[in-house]
Amino acid sequence: MTTWAATTWALYGVGSAALATSLVKLRRRFDLSQAKHRSLAGHARIARRIAALLPFYEYNETRFFCSDGAPADIAARRRAGFERLSALYKTRFAATISRTAEAAESISDLVFTDAYRVPFQYRRHVQVNLPSAVFVQSSEGVTVTDLDSNRFYDASGSYGVNVLGYDFYKGAIERGASRVRELGPVLGPYHPLIIDNVELLKEISGLDEVSFHMSGTEAVMQAVRLARFHTRRSHLVRFCGAYHGWWGDVQPGIGNPVPAHETYTLAEMSEDTLRVIASRHNIACVLVNPLQALHPNASAPSDSALVDSGRRAHFDKGAYAEWLRRLREVCSAQNIVLIFDEVFVGFRLAQGGAQGYFGVHADLVTYGKTLGGGLPIGVVCGRAALMRRFRDERPADICFARGTFNSHPYVMAAMNEFLRHLRTPQGQAVYRDLDAIWNARACLLNERLRNEALPVEIANLSSIWTVCYTQPSRYNWMLQYYLRAEGLALSWVGTGRLIFSLDYTDADFVAVADRFVTAARAMQADGWWWRNASMTNKLIRRTILKEIIARRLFS
Ligand SMILES: Cc1ncc(COP(=O)(O)O)c(C=O)c1O
Repeated sequence: MTTWAATTWALYGVGSAALATSLVKLRRRFDLSQAKHRSLAGHARIARRIAALLPFYEYNETRFFCSDGAPADIAARRRAGFERLSALYKTRFAATISRTAEAAESISDLVFTDAYRVPFQYRRHVQVNLPSAVFVQSSEGVTVTDLDSNRFYDASGSYGVNVLGYDFYKGAIERGASRVRELGPVLGPYHPLIIDNVELLKEISGLDEVSFHMSGTEAVMQAVRLARFHTRRSHLVRFCGAYHGWWGDVQPGIGNPVPAHETYTLAEMSEDTLRVIASRHNIACVLVNPLQALHPNASAPSDSALVDSGRRAHFDKGAYAEWLRRLREVCSAQNIVLIFDEVFVGFRLAQGGAQGYFGVHADLVTYGKTLGGGLPIGVVCGRAALMRRFRDERPADICFARGTFNSHPYVMAAMNEFLRHLRTPQGQAVYRDLDAIWNARACLLNERLRNEALPVEIANLSSIWTVCYTQPSRYNWMLQYYLRAEGLALSWVGTGRLIFSLDYTDADFVAVADRFVTAARAMQADGWWWRNASMTNKLIRRTILKEIIARRLFS
């Protein structure tokens, strides 16, 4: 063979190899895009770009009441209802509103939540006429009392912390404090009761080691860092819509000013996702928030995003358990660390947490919220090999994690009260027939809503509820204000998430259901759910899109 021919063959060889590599890369890229959920939440970067383009605009006072094309008589009914509600708010919640207004000028969190209670087009008019009233002075049983001495049934659940009832946590904090008073806030050395916490957590999680942090966000950060350290791989997989705290790597989309380059956001309960996890060699861990079982692939529901009636939720325990089993199999086969983030659902669904509830074991589990017995906490439990923060054979290669307030004696003591209580007959009784109780309560309320032809429906994962709307409407977010008027306290995400503590009795719950139905009835009577035959969720979204485009083009 001549030199020329040899060179040509060599070039062919290199070219074919390059082509084959490119095809493989293309195929992997294609598989990855197939495994993304088709919603915007499934495409973090695009979502961020689109969010940056969205212009602010708002409805004037007239359009506020007829943005769905309602006729004049309906708009007038809505206006009358709105004014009545506004007058009620301004008298019944006067002191609470006034204190909130003072604080809202300088508490950034409040400035933010106050702006994100309703879709932005309606914001200003709502803020002026139905002002936020966020102060409470006391809690008792399943109620909280505001500064005007109004008592509300609490459906906010303190972000999920309140599992056993406020009175329990008050006691846990007090009893706990008395046990560590002599030591006080000494940090660094431990109070001996930490040992009991560790033993109890090992038993509950079925894992070997425990680390303490100050929040759920930090627990998640540490779990992911450990997974990366031990697998020597870079990427984490999180599922579309799942919340894992506000650390950048687990919040790659809207809300985080910089892109998260080492995060894959994949569709949950998807074959394509399993295929990607099984075929990539750079995945360190897969993060699961079992709360998503209530609304797989959808973001935490908030009334500020309730622009139509598209909110959907449905819990299928068997299907989700099967998904977790398959995920477990793929992770085990690929040596990928499976992390259950039980910061929200741990201790709410079952004593053994989501692992026990769904019958699937994780390699690392994060806990938080209620585990602190009413005080701030984040915990990671894991297999010993994964929890190790250094390598015996490479002493300078470490996985650093600290935190000034980790293992604070007062937090450890309140936690111990919580964990000890779980072992008492009273603590165990709480979990007996839990799903049956809360499913029956959801059914009862749904039946009452259906019987009165109210376009509202509850979906629930045990004691965690979300309100769905059964006919197209632009005004569903108004329900949160009617519910407050009836004495139900919700969190700032409104009807997206109602969280009940497990000390609700049947009688308490009937009172809640009565108030819920009365509120929905009043909203119906005030015309907010008027619709004409042609209205659909799609049409509503198209109208909003046109408004946005017009705003961008003509202002
Ligand atoms: C599943 C999950 N993980 C992590 C976090 C973050 O916890 P924290 O707010 O304590 O930082 C939350 C908070 O809601 C959560 O629900």
